[in-house]
Amino acid sequence: MSKSYLTASGSETILRGVSFDVGQSERVALIGASGCGKSTLLNVIAGIDTIDSGVVTVAGQDLTGLDEKQRTLYRRRHIGFVYQSFNLIQTLTAFENVQLPLQLNRFPTEQITDLAQAMLERVGLADRATAFPDQLSGGEQQRVAIARAMVHSPSLVLADEHTGNLDAETGRQMMDLFSELAEQCGQTVLMVTHSRAVADTADRILQIVDGRIEHGDSARVW
Ligand SMILES: Nc1ncnc2c1ncn2[C@@H]1O[C@H](COP(=O)(O)OP(=O)(O)OP(=O)(O)O)[C@@H](O)[C@H]1O
Ligand SMILES: [Mg+2]
Repeated sequence: MSKSYLTASGSETILRGVSFDVGQSERVALIGASGCGKSTLLNVIAGIDTIDSGVVTVAGQDLTGLDEKQRTLYRRRHIGFVYQSFNLIQTLTAFENVQLPLQLNRFPTEQITDLAQAMLERVGLADRATAFPDQLSGGEQQRVAIARAMVHSPSLVLADEHTGNLDAETGRQMMDLFSELAEQCGQTVLMVTHSRAVADTADRILQIVDGRIEHGDSARVW
């Protein structure tokens, strides 16, 4: 698939013929220089952004054939997204942010509280449940974002620098938790990272170079 953005200086092609497959339950790391299009690619797979040409198929569904409303429903049901900038809802507490995907997916009310509570405990934030995002540190917000992305057991988890704001030890704990949850639920994970340690926890590493995917170890940036 290919994707360009219209900028002040004209159309700029970011992804030029990206092609790859990810198998079910596979954990893949996506690496590449800043600005190469990693977040753009995740946004496309999440159905947030659209492409110029090509095909994107997730769980047998061709996203290019869906309109915006259908893509929203697809995203709600199938995708967990840890955004690079967290995107927590500022007017909701940590607990309410984690509950949101369950509510949108119409989980039974009694399950919503239990699942959200359990997830906040797993990310070590049970005692900060009533805090609003602006009362949390960057790392704490990131952990809420991870909890929110995984609480509804989505089939595909997309993570954009999900350990970027955490110290080494917390980052490692979050990676372990992330892997454990994904494994338990058979989730497929596509994670963007600049950290070699994080990438090395993946089954496979893909690198974006000049708008295309480079396969193979020789392409690694480290
Ligand atoms: N909405 C937009 N309109 C125009 N250009 C955009 C838009 N979004 C991203 N870009 C440009 O597309 C390119 C790829 O951006 P993207 O955010 O995907 O990079 P990235 O690989 O995630 O970088 P980083 O590692 O810094 O997060 C950048 O040059 C960026 O300026
Ligand atoms: Mg990015």
